[in-house]
Amino acid sequence: MGRKVQFVQQISRVVVSCDPKKWNPTWIGVGAGTGGVAWGNRSELSRAAHVIGQALISKSSMSKYLLAWCSDLHFDFIQPHQRQRFLQSVAMSGANGIVITGDISTSRRIADNLGSIAGTGLPTYFVTGNHDYYAGNFATTDATTASVCRQFPNMTRLGRGEIIPLGERTALIGHSGWGDGRAGMGPMTPVRMNDSLLIADLRLDGAALFEKLAELGMASARYIERVALIAVQNADQVVVATHVPPFPEASRHEGVPGEPSHLPHFTNVAMGESLRKIARDWPRKKFLVICGHTHERFTWQADENLVVKVAGARYGDPAVEEILEF
Ligand SMILES: [Fe+2]
Ligand SMILES: [Fe+2]
Repeated sequence: MGRKVQFVQQISRVVVSCDPKKWNPTWIGVGAGTGGVAWGNRSELSRAAHVIGQALISKSSMSKYLLAWCSDLHFDFIQPHQRQRFLQSVAMSGANGIVITGDISTSRRIADNLGSIAGTGLPTYFVTGNHDYYAGNFATTDATTASVCRQFPNMTRLGRGEIIPLGERTALIGHSGWGDGRAGMGPMTPVRMNDSLLIADLRLDGAALFEKLAELGMASARYIERVALIAVQNADQVVVATHVPPFPEASRHEGVPGEPSHLPHFTNVAMGESLRKIARDWPRKKFLVICGHTHERFTWQADENLVVKVAGARYGDPAVEEILEF
């Protein structure tokens, strides 16, 4: 409850600075209890426009949309009965939908684990985290999650042009992102993640590894820039779901800022640069970033209209981080 109140206060502060005349009165959310959107083969941006159009069609009076935000569930650390107990609690929470900001499981288990989440019946939007690729590679894991989303219409992986209306004035977009190796000590760091051992694409040494990390971070940043540009046209608030904190200030460990040696793997600098640019280009809009990866709960106001919330998490104890209200 305390955290929920804190969130509302933060957003209220930003709302004051908005010009209501700029609100687009035709923006109507798809609404509570609706599922994800199937995209077909259209381009990313035309698909995004398609969703906005779908949203406009669905004109109805809206009640608040309650979104259960979870992160770093790490289902591979718990038994099936624990997983079911957690999912039942989410289903009973009164939430209209679920958003998961990565690290759901591992590559070999993610299909089964996403299937169990689909069983809640709630529309579920997710990005993958680094852990989700463990014991696999990018291509096969992404193909697996795509297959799950085709099988279960209520499951949507964010990162292919989706713009999800939440309530009347808010849109959800997202991309997995990655620690792009630039924060803190950057490529000089001696620290290596298990990612370099457990994800086939990242079994790289030295400069090659950091080139790849930078490439992953940049791809996520460019994506968010493109899709936010469309989302912001018809929403007053854009929620950006990603896995890795986009600013070093938000990337903490055990109550203090992250070590410079660790920050390269726990910050997506490119994403932060893009978010700052978007927020400054659209000063009357609000941007809320939700992420995880550090497992260290923290809220950081990056700019007047840009707030970053990092989820706390404990291995073996999956939980709803917060019920977000739109
Ligand atoms: Fe995690
Ligand atoms: Fe992670």
